[in-house]
Amino acid sequence: MKNQILNTLMTRKEYVSGESLSETLGVSRTAIWKAIHKLKDEGYEIEAIPNRGYRLIMETADLVESAILLHLEKESRFTTIKVYESLDSTNSEAKRLKVNKTMDEGLIIAKEQTAGKGRRGKLWASVKDEGIWASLVLVPDIPPMIASMLTLIAGLSAAMAIEEKTGLEVGIKWPNDLVISGKKVCGILTEMSTEADYIQHVVVGIGINVNQKIFDENLKDIATSLQIELGREVNRVEILSTFLNHFEKLYEKFLKIMDLSFMIEKYNQMCVNVDQELKIIEHGEIKQVTGIKVTNQGSLMVRNKEGNTEIIYAGDVSVRGINGYV
Ligand code: BTN
Repeated sequence: MKNQILNTLMTRKEYVSGESLSETLGVSRTAIWKAIHKLKDEGYEIEAIPNRGYRLIMETADLVESAILLHLEKESRFTTIKVYESLDSTNSEAKRLKVNKTMDEGLIIAKEQTAGKGRRGKLWASVKDEGIWASLVLVPDIPPMIASMLTLIAGLSAAMAIEEKTGLEVGIKWPNDLVISGKKVCGILTEMSTEADYIQHVVVGIGINVNQKIFDENLKDIATSLQIELGREVNRVEILSTFLNHFEKLYEKFLKIMDLSFMIEKYNQMCVNVDQELKIIEHGEIKQVTGIKVTNQGSLMVRNKEGNTEIIYAGDVSVRGINGYV
């Protein structure tokens, strides 16, 4: 009901009387009043004037379920949204919910993570309310072999969302990092559970550095945030809901086409590894190559020193620019 009231106030953009809300929704005026209070607690600015009714003055900037739902496309598959004050890791919680069979598809968000997971067993710094720490829970009917392409779909969706909402130029560092001014602003950790040759679920965890003003000594040369780049605070609800809307469109296409052909041109345009001298680090061995493009299967095509083309598979390697991270 709270969300219905919010939708009404949002679309009408004028005073809506308690009476008409209670009639339309078939609940008492006290129930409406209570729901309005809950919305105010969630950070919405709502004006209440006797004999005129309620008017939404400002949306909340807090990562709350109602705010994200408000901005999702109609008929979204991500209407199950769980927001936690604190979690060890949203990926771990997503897996727990799947094991307990308490969630189908949806989104897990944490305001802070105490043991955020990065790739290769690294920790992911997830300070309270400074970023977007979230996991998409998916049950795609696809062969496990192609599930890693979801990382690239999430990467492109996040890159487009950030560019659209901030105007910053975002690069994708294949396969799973987003960079701004040569520093990492977003990372993606995709984990999957399979049985025989079918997928039980996939968890796509995404961390976006949004409102950090500074980073610890060990991160400050390689990490950045949207606020640092832009010089102002950024609304996390806008970034997350725009990301979800992009992701959903691309995901639906992917489920039908089962490769990345429908988005690969855009991906390659944003990919910082294309036409770049790269260092590929595989099992401790380093080789120098030139990035050519990312393929429809989501692998990186490179030219080696001998002038031959090679295909690099994500998961096997780390990719670096010849002089540093990008
Ligand atoms: C990386 O670049 O190393 C991947 C980082 C992924 C971080 C996100 S934050 C939300 C989700 N939950 C986790 O524990 N990790 C991912």
